[in-house]
Amino acid sequence: MSTEQQSEAPAEGDEGPVASGNDTLTVTDNRTGRSYELPIEDDTIKALDLRQIKVHEEDFGMMAFDPAFTNTASCRSAITYIDGEAGILEHRGIPIEQLCEHSTFLEVSYLLVFGELPTRPQLEAWVHDVTIHTFVHEDIKKFLSGFRYDAHPMGMLLASTGALSTFYPDANKILDPIERYLATIRLIAKMPTLAAFSYRHNMGQPYVYPDNDLSYPENFLSMMFKMTETKYEPDPRLAKAIDVLFILHADHEQNCSTSAVRGVGSSDVDPYSAVAAGIAALYGRLHGGANEAVLQMLRRIESVDNIPSFLDAVKKREEKLMGFGHRVYKNYDPRARIIKSHADEVFEATEYNPLVELATELEKQALDDDFFTSRKLYPNVDFYSGIIYEALKIPPGMFTVIFAIARTAGWIAQWLEMTDDPDKKISRPRQIYTGAREANYIPLGERTGEDRISGPATRPS
Ligand code: ACO
Repeated sequence: MSTEQQSEAPAEGDEGPVASGNDTLTVTDNRTGRSYELPIEDDTIKALDLRQIKVHEEDFGMMAFDPAFTNTASCRSAITYIDGEAGILEHRGIPIEQLCEHSTFLEVSYLLVFGELPTRPQLEAWVHDVTIHTFVHEDIKKFLSGFRYDAHPMGMLLASTGALSTFYPDANKILDPIERYLATIRLIAKMPTLAAFSYRHNMGQPYVYPDNDLSYPENFLSMMFKMTETKYEPDPRLAKAIDVLFILHADHEQNCSTSAVRGVGSSDVDPYSAVAAGIAALYGRLHGGANEAVLQMLRRIESVDNIPSFLDAVKKREEKLMGFGHRVYKNYDPRARIIKSHADEVFEATEYNPLVELATELEKQALDDDFFTSRKLYPNVDFYSGIIYEALKIPPGMFTVIFAIARTAGWIAQWLEMTDDPDKKISRPRQIYTGAREANYIPLGERTGEDRISGPATRPS
């Protein structure tokens, strides 16, 4: 507990209070001259400890204002470590570079969910459990067929994931170990099936059922691209690239979509609904939607000759360089570095694509430009992932969907951690109220419209 140290204003020339312990922060409120000693734990103070800072006894007390949570830790987590300045990403302490080189997406999912690498029998059991849950209820097919032919696959994935909660109503027993395990397995197993079905719906092609002889990434490619052949045999280089992309996107600590999963999950809703909230957040163009936006941007730039004028427009704030910049990484995104090294293998196995050359030159020119380097704007994971998907002939609408397949492992690991956390409470931020107070209701016939307080909505004229 924090304590109020002194209630009198310090005398002139007084140096002020001296912190009694090393692990405290002394705050002096210059409005009152009172000082407070706040405990520091893990380089952090508790925002609630600020509440005791008041001018008048009846005041609500001080709050921290942090609209985008740029400097607020919302939880303790042992899943993913990021050092944005140094460009480090680790899952359960293991560097992402090692995981991409030696592991598989399903093994990384196990690591995220259980906290350690599996033994061989544990891995076999895990892969088996995921594999036998890849099928979805036939009614999900009917549900998907209700969408318009051109529905965005991310919208279909969002809706069908939310719908899963109606197929598994017992998933709302969120502390039951069996239900927790089943939801974990089902979400990881069914996400590629829902994703591929959404794609086939867009293409007007029959849905392809999972093939349990194939590995997780191979099965996804089969459900996407299998046509009349009896057995789909994916190019191992492409299956490996997809698996690496899955690993790279598996988790990224408290980003927008994970915070959405935790925020919605904090109400004790079932994990399918919480993960659907994560998918919704990921859909936005500033988050998972960025890789699709990168492709749209490259198509608009059209040729290498147009790069300088495009970069000028970015500097004038008329354009945004999609796939550049990151809230956390103020250095090269380590995932972008790994993707870049796998991109060449994919381009070898696929047809020449002029967008690859355009992207490489765009990156080079941006990194030579002080506007970007002075703001620490480097390529993020989305800059290259979109080009690889393009080379794999995956349409832009599916890029974020593939991101969602992978991030499901992280979302469910974070949901499991949150629901087990003794500090967990329902998420409920505070606000600084800026609106009117104690206004009177004016009868409809007496309103002139002149005294209106303008609200955020504008009615198109
Ligand atoms: N293009 C041009 N300028 C940019 C870009 C960009 N992509 N990103 C940031 N800036 C500029 C800002 O205008 C700002 O300039 P200023 O200081 O002169 O005003 C400065 O760089 C700092 O940027 P912020 O917006 O404060 O950075 P923030 O951390 O809030 O935003 C974000 C991070 C949203 C990722 C941003 O960099 C962006 O919009 N990037 C493009 C979208 C993108 O690629 N998103 C994918 C992120 S990775 C992921 O979700 C997997």
